[in-house]
Amino acid sequence: MADKKTIAVLGSTGSQGGGLCRAILADAAGGFACRAITRDPSKDKAKELASKGAEVVKADIDDVESLKKAFAGAYGVYAVTNFWEHFSGEKEKAQAKNIAEAAKAAGVKHVVWSTLEDTRKLMAPDDKRMPMLQEKYRVPHFDAKAEADAYFSGLPVTRLVTSFYWDNLYLFGLAPKKGEDGKLSWAFPMGDAKLVGIAAEDIGKVAYGVFKAGQEYIGKTVGIYGEALTIEQMGETLSKVLGVGPIVYNAVDADAYRGFGFPGADELGNMFQVYRDFERQVLDARSLDTTRKLNPSLLTYEQFVARHKDTILPALN
Ligand SMILES: NC(=O)c1ccc[n+]([C@@H]2O[C@H](COP(=O)([O-])OP(=O)(O)OC[C@H]3O[C@@H](n4cnc5c(N)ncnc54)[C@H](OP(=O)(O)O)[C@@H]3O)[C@@H](O)[C@H]2O)c1
Repeated sequence: MADKKTIAVLGSTGSQGGGLCRAILADAAGGFACRAITRDPSKDKAKELASKGAEVVKADIDDVESLKKAFAGAYGVYAVTNFWEHFSGEKEKAQAKNIAEAAKAAGVKHVVWSTLEDTRKLMAPDDKRMPMLQEKYRVPHFDAKAEADAYFSGLPVTRLVTSFYWDNLYLFGLAPKKGEDGKLSWAFPMGDAKLVGIAAEDIGKVAYGVFKAGQEYIGKTVGIYGEALTIEQMGETLSKVLGVGPIVYNAVDADAYRGFGFPGADELGNMFQVYRDFERQVLDARSLDTTRKLNPSLLTYEQFVARHKDTILPALN
């Protein structure tokens, strides 16, 4: 244990950081130890990690001094912020700044920063196809992370550009739903474009691959995904693997989607429109070969659906 390299993992009780913790803990001979950071070490997910051998440490991303203590003596830091807890681009940047400052203070040797692309670079400022949100962003949870990339300059950082979680089917309520006629349907403003997706657990496994590769990815931006599929294809696979009837895809207009009224509908409307209108650029920013190299057990969408069948099925109602 003593000679293992410790990775201080933010978001350890969540999808990305949790995946990384489980990958480290599953590889006892891998030379890494997991320091799982949470605001609440008494929660079940933290206890579960502790029971598998993680060192659980309490810290809050909003409190830079607590991060400095949590990162002390660590070899690496997995840096992820949770936009969806507050929906604020400015707050997400402030959190990323705290992480970078604490990582510098602790002198860590490798930071993997979970980021996304700056969607504003894809459109001219006066492009009217989608509204600006929070005054200055097209897709706040993308653009704020991309802006925050700059805070990590000067650190031995790998910028990990992630993709849409397939887990959103049950985590975000995005699964097809049964209508009054009993038929399953779902609506996305994706037209016939392909959505770059990944099993959330695989992001953590890729991050583990990045830490294991050491110098190779320091100073690099690594874009990852598991498979790019149209909504039609995703529906066909769901229906085949789950053994449910055909799924009707309503390829709604992005304005209609933004108007759906649920919290974050405007943000997701802009995000899906980016995935649709800039399908090529989004794909070009990610490499399937690199993703597989870093995580040889990368799941396809069909494998993901089969593995999570019991969780997805109840989400269809
Ligand atoms: N959903 C998608 O399709 C998707 C795709 C790409 C990127 N993302 C990005 O993924 C990020 C969220 O990551 P996730 O899905 O892995 O998270 P998650 O499963 O929702 O869990 C959130 C994690 O963040 C931790 N956390 C939040 N605020 C914290 C704070 N102030 N101090 C310490 N820890 C804090 C929580 O820890 P405790 O509660 O235990 O303290 C928890 O472990 C978002 O920013 C989102 O934009 C999402």
